[in-house]
This record gives sequence, structure tokens and C-alpha cells, in this order.
Amino acid sequence: MAKTEYEWVDSGSLPEIAEHSEVKHSVIVQYLKQYVKVLTINPSIPNLNLHIVDGFSGGGRYYSPKHKREVYGSPILLHNTIREVEAEINTTSRTKTKLSVNAQFYFIEKKKPVYQCLKDSLCSAGIDINSENIHIINKSFTDAIDPVINSILTHGRGDQRAIYLLDQYGYTDVPIPYLRYIFGTSGKNSEAILTFSTDSIINYLSDSPSYLKGIKKAGLHEVLSLEAINDLKELKQVDSKQTRALIEQSLYDFVWKKSKARFFTPFFIRSDVSNRSYWLVHLSNHPKARDEMVKIHWSFQNSFAHYGGPGLKMLFGFDANLSHLENQLQFDFLFDESAESRTRDALLEGVTEYFSDEPLEIFELISSTCNGSPAHYEQYLDAIYSHLCQKGIKIIGKNGEQRRSRKSLRLDDKIVLERNLTFMF
Ligand SMILES: C[S@@+](CC[C@H](N)C(=O)[O-])C[C@H]1O[C@@H](n2cnc3c(N)ncnc32)[C@H](O)[C@@H]1O
Repeated sequence: MAKTEYEWVDSGSLPEIAEHSEVKHSVIVQYLKQYVKVLTINPSIPNLNLHIVDGFSGGGRYYSPKHKREVYGSPILLHNTIREVEAEINTTSRTKTKLSVNAQFYFIEKKKPVYQCLKDSLCSAGIDINSENIHIINKSFTDAIDPVINSILTHGRGDQRAIYLLDQYGYTDVPIPYLRYIFGTSGKNSEAILTFSTDSIINYLSDSPSYLKGIKKAGLHEVLSLEAINDLKELKQVDSKQTRALIEQSLYDFVWKKSKARFFTPFFIRSDVSNRSYWLVHLSNHPKARDEMVKIHWSFQNSFAHYGGPGLKMLFGFDANLSHLENQLQFDFLFDESAESRTRDALLEGVTEYFSDEPLEIFELISSTCNGSPAHYEQYLDAIYSHLCQKGIKIIGKNGEQRRSRKSLRLDDKIVLERNLTFMF
């Protein structure tokens, strides 16, 4: 008989996967495919070296009530996606130099019976668990991470690429200092996809010893000190909506800054099972990586909600009146048509605030504002092009050429206010 989600007892009985977890898997698979495609776009590149760390692997297989069949969990999906995308690139876009993706996989699972199920699942999926590139580790994430990072570091000269999938249940098993450790030590090309149950923090807000212990374990006691918790508890009695917004905003600021990742984009996943929401956070150091992830969320309309609204500054700083957070509490930003048009309107207005007497590189505008926005590059370029059509600005290319069409816009072009043009030439 199928068990509840994440309960692997033995390989004979599979836990049922919830629909929202299947969507999460699809996002991860699509992102990984896109990641490999973007990095190997130059057809003369023969190799891509990559480390994939699944910090909370699970047992490897589920029963899907939606599809009425067995489906793979994250470790097998990650492994197979690499092989599939490599084959796809070689058949569709490589004639001379074939691509080889050299991936090291680290599958970490703390619970012994689940670890055993994982090994069985990998074998039954035809994956050689004794291969040199597969590392299956029966430890907690925090105990396993040091040797994993050391192994990653021995494979390169500071240019190693690593993707960490940190699919914890709840919020305490990936303490925030560990995110900083990952981004501080395993190189500038590290990325992480983290699940983080904000609802567990908010719904169970308490000063009980077990709650405080969880907050401390998660490394959140600086932002949720006993004093802050008591203030929030009082506020919750008067205005629970505002309390929720305040906690989410504080967590957003804290986790992002402490992680030391340059780009930090949380999306809400609405759990159909527990009727609770959690963040699927993407952390990276490259705006292009963030852009690819955002585009994938736009392609999954209605499964995710953006944490903020459509504007550019929805997520920054603390606003005592919090009125701008009202909309996000209704989860009305669902990457659908309405969200698309609101994003376009908000961008059109929002970008003007950054136009100044100094020429502004389009890439700089995007990188400095995208953390707080659900927009992807193309939407930014559309907004900038609208201003060009309205003749408020000129767009100047690297060699001084003026851009006139939407198609010709480049990320390294500069935005110059029409009135300042004469100073440039
Ligand atoms: C949410 S499930 C993972 C699901 C899996 N990533 C997937 O998508 O198929 C979390 C897993 O992490 C394991 N786990 C719990 N605490 C852990 C820890 N501190 N370190 C590593 N694994 C842990 C649990 O036994 C469970 O199998």
C-alpha cells in the first residue's frame, strides 16, 4: 500500500507524491536542462564539468495518484536529465564537436531505511551506484557538506560549477550559515534551489522551547529573537495578516543577505495537501541564471505565486505601513496573463526611476533591480523599447551606434536620456 509523502519504509511500498511536488520536480528538470543548454551554447565547447548535490535525496521513487503510475524522485530525475539533455544537444546542435557533460552526483540522505530505498531505486532505474561519479551518502546534510565541498574544490581552480538542491522538509535542516558557507567556499559558480517552509514559522509562532530551538537550529534567532517573537505574537492577535507580511519580509531580507548569494528569488509553492505554502528559493550569482529560472516559472502559470507584486521594488527594505504587501498575501500573482500585463505596466513606470543623467547600462539596470521583480530580460527590454518609442530616451550601442528596433537591443547597450544626448558626442 502506498504511504504518505516522503515515507519510504522499504522498496516494496512507495509513498504517494503530491501534485505540487510533481510541479516542483518539473521546474527543477527544466531548469537543469536550460542550465546545460545555456552553458554549452558555443558548439565548440567539448566538455561541461558539473557537480550536482541533492542534499535531501529521499528514496528515489513515488507512486503518482495523478499519473497513476510510479514516478522518479529528485536523484534519478537529476541524473537522467543530464544524460537526456546531453543526448538532445548532441543530436540537435552538434555536428563536429560532440558534447560530454561530466557530472558528479552527491546524493545525501540521513535516514538509513530511506538511504537503502534510494540505492534500490537507483539500481532499478539502471544507474550504476558503484560508478565513480555517483556518491551516495548516508548522513545529515550538515554532516555531509564539508567532504562534498572539499571534493568539489579538488575538481577545479575556483571555476567549478555546482548546483545544490536543498529540498528540506520544514525550515530547520538547512541552517542559514550553511548557505553562506556554500556561497563563500564552493566558488562563484554555485547555485542553490532551496525549499523553505515560511508557513511553518508563521503558523506556529510561539515562545515555546521547542519552537525557539527550531529557530536557533535554522540560524534565524538573530531575526526572530525572543523579543521579536513576543512582539509579533502580540501583533498577530490584532492583525494576523500584517504579522505574516512582516515575518515574510524580515525573513526575505535576512536569508538573502546572510546567504551572500547575489540573486535571491523566492517563489511560493502552494501545497495542495497541507493547504500551506512554502518558498522555492533560487540562489545564484548570475543574473542569467536567475532569468532562466524566472522564465520557467512564467511557463508554469498558476502553480506558483511570486513573493512580491509586479513592481521593481516589491521586496526591498522594511516599510512600516506594509500596504504594498497586501496583494501578495492574496497570492494573486500567479504568472498568468493578468500578472503579465501588470508586470509590463509596473516595469514601464518602474524603470524610469533609474534613468538618470549618467548613461545606464541595460544589464546594470536589470541586475540591480531583478531581485525584487518577477520580470525576465525580455520584459525589461520591451519596457525600455517602449520608452525609446516614446522618445524619452536613446539607446546607444558599444560603438556609439543608436538602436532603433526592439530586435537590435543588447544588454550592454546604454540608456541615455534624450536631453543628455548632446553631452555624449
Ligand atoms: C522532502 S524529502 C526529499 C524529497 C526528494 N528531494 C525528492 O524530490 O524526491 C526530504 C528527505 O530528506 C531526508 N532528511 C531529513 N532530514 C535530513 C537531513 N538533516 N539531512 C539529509 N537528509 C534529511 C528525509 O528522510 C527525506 O527523505
